[in-house]
Amino acid sequence: MQRLEKFVDPLPILNTLQPNKRTKQGAYYDITMEAFKTKLHRDLPRTTLWGYNGQFPGPLIEAFRDEPVSVTWHNELPDRHILPVDTSIHGLDKLPTVRTVVHLHGMETTQESDGHPEAWYTRNFQITGPTFSKRTFHYPNHQRSTLLWYHDHAMGLTRLNVYAGLAGMYLLRDKQEASLNLPSGEYEIPLMITDRSFHPDGSLSYPAQPADAGPNLPYPSIVPAFLGDTVVVNGKVWPYLEVEPRKYRFRILNGSNTRAYQLFLDDGSVLHQIGSDGGLLRKRVDMEIIGLQPAERIDVIVDFSQLAGQTITLKNNLGPDADPADEMGDIIQFRVTNHVKNKDSSNLPSNLSYVPSLKQNDISTVRYLKLVGSADEFDRPLLLLNHLKWHDPVTEKPKLDSTEIWAFVNTTDFSHPIHIHLVQFQVLDHQTFDLERFNEDGTLIFTGSPEAASPNNRSWKDTIEVPAGTVTRVIANFGPYTGDYVWHCHILEHEDYDMMRPFRVITDDEDKK
Ligand code: C2O
Ligand code: CU
Ligand code: CU
Repeated sequence: MQRLEKFVDPLPILNTLQPNKRTKQGAYYDITMEAFKTKLHRDLPRTTLWGYNGQFPGPLIEAFRDEPVSVTWHNELPDRHILPVDTSIHGLDKLPTVRTVVHLHGMETTQESDGHPEAWYTRNFQITGPTFSKRTFHYPNHQRSTLLWYHDHAMGLTRLNVYAGLAGMYLLRDKQEASLNLPSGEYEIPLMITDRSFHPDGSLSYPAQPADAGPNLPYPSIVPAFLGDTVVVNGKVWPYLEVEPRKYRFRILNGSNTRAYQLFLDDGSVLHQIGSDGGLLRKRVDMEIIGLQPAERIDVIVDFSQLAGQTITLKNNLGPDADPADEMGDIIQFRVTNHVKNKDSSNLPSNLSYVPSLKQNDISTVRYLKLVGSADEFDRPLLLLNHLKWHDPVTEKPKLDSTEIWAFVNTTDFSHPIHIHLVQFQVLDHQTFDLERFNEDGTLIFTGSPEAASPNNRSWKDTIEVPAGTVTRVIANFGPYTGDYVWHCHILEHEDYDMMRPFRVITDDEDKK
């Protein structure tokens, strides 16, 4: 399809959703998933999407530490999916094709409110008992301030539901953050970076089969990865934003299915990184370029004060081998005006927050968890965790409040962003090993010494890139709830098939049984 002109639409600024009510028990929201049509670019006909409250991204929720939030998530979606559903995986042929369940990524909550992939529901679908088309989930917000995001998590459909538009952002605030006097109000801007492809009629394009599909593949058939050819930020194709010559705070999420970004500013300005997935870093890190895997978040300050009248682009470094025709090197353009409306009195602090090191804790278990490639009966790639499929019995059962090290051993030849529900972890290190040898006879021979995580990944994280041929070790304290949760690769095409596993946080008593 014809290229869409870049930087012709202004960036949509997300408005904060007002709660339906706010009491001593917390804030309460009703949010409805529905189909809608919207213009994603000046020259593109309207696109049918699915969105929370008919928006993409979904409405921005702003929450405060220790003030609980409850959301009733309603499913009012149509009966047929707008994207190709592969029913050959997970026995989906026996299930309705439109199923949803919302997960608030990064939130510590009970298993009932976590959006377990099997806890899906649909509009008026009846399995046995009464019909249900909504669920109310509770978010305690007993955790430090950060940017979280909510997205669909239905078994075997996550890649399609999120691609259709079921994703939104959730800002959790606290006093410590407020005390830093960071740029705020109209100078703090959440950005959801995604990639999409379109048909000329404006509809979303997503492959119904892998490009090299043989004659015997199911139709539709899941693809091993998806890379769109168009960047969409806050629901607009390659937008621009007019900014004043002063400091701005950008809360950035990679909401793409598979694509990772290497973000930098084309005038050489630094990105002052102050936070990651789990909130503020200990100290600010000034970065020239920041890698952002699917589901990762960064909190950065950009100082435009010396750049009045200039145009600066946030770019994605495609690397030396990039195809010159690849358009994905651009994200968003900033047009700096000549004057500030008001004097900028915000700070750019270097000391940010206290993050205790989990290394001091007693370590109860070290688990080696292998990321492995295999093939299914149709010879499609099948990526697994520890050679197990989603439906195999639970093997990871950390005890409540115990500290464990999870060592992810990536035996495939590309990176996977691994995410653990319920907890924020700390990345200990990455260590390279002889991948060829390992794949020959299973011997793990390290070829380098452990390398500490990069400074911007040393605070709290819930998703981390596990590079090919490395053991990446993370440490986490499992709690504050017991129950059934999941961990998975956050490349949604991998998560759906079958790079996702359950884990269960158990009590001491359960352990003895
Ligand atoms: Cu962002 Cu299990 O997901
Ligand atoms: Cu999550
Ligand atoms: Cu993966």
